[in-house]
Amino acid sequence: MTGRRKSAIEDHFDFAPELEQFLHDRGKKEQADVVHNVGRGVRFSYTRQSEALGLGHAVLCAAELVGDEPFAVLLGDVIMDGQIPATRQLVEIYEATGKGAIHVEEVPRERLHFYGIIDAIRAKDPRWGERLLQIKDLVEKPSAEKAPSNWGVTGRYVLPPEIFGHLEKTKPGAGGEIQLTDGLRALAQEIGLWAYVYEGKTHDAGDKMGFLKATVELALKDAKLGEVFRSYLKDLKA
Ligand code: G1P
Repeated sequence: MTGRRKSAIEDHFDFAPELEQFLHDRGKKEQADVVHNVGRGVRFSYTRQSEALGLGHAVLCAAELVGDEPFAVLLGDVIMDGQIPATRQLVEIYEATGKGAIHVEEVPRERLHFYGIIDAIRAKDPRWGERLLQIKDLVEKPSAEKAPSNWGVTGRYVLPPEIFGHLEKTKPGAGGEIQLTDGLRALAQEIGLWAYVYEGKTHDAGDKMGFLKATVELALKDAKLGEVFRSYLKDLKA
């Protein structure tokens, strides 16, 4: 899903013969190979959301591209870092149960109103232990008083195509937008929906502080840069 002024994303995964040649001519073969391989082996299709009518509307814009298949939604401003890739984890649950699954995490009370919040019970499925929850209901960005729990939806969803029918019927909700959370509510009631408390670390890079924290923490873990970056930070502190 892209939109106005986001063609940089499409360009990034496209061929870049001039840049490849430029790098080759300067003997930077390794970097030229990175550019050459960036979009290989994957076919990309893009659709644009021409009006910012909400996340549910954005997902609905992809209905034709997706067709009658399960699919994943990844919110680009949320970075999830863990041993098992976050989306892979949800795909495993979908494949084993035939039902959609979304990631959640415990959210502090003062941040509940930034999230979709679920009402859920432990699924008690031995394959996933305490981490798998059965969703009863969801509310988009409730006040702390109205929140049914402190489990917030973090931004990875693996869903069946039935969600599209629900989104078509979804009226504007919180913030006047067509909310994915409201479509998920109907889906949870119709065929069921799992929530999973992800083991890894979730960075909300959608605000400035979250973006800075994600940059620093991921840089510290980087195989090539981690060590020098750590000593740079130590020097700064001194
Ligand atoms: C969206 C979703 C919300 C979810 C959040 C996670 O909200 O609508 O349910 O909890 O992403 O980041 P947004 O942050 O786009 O306002």
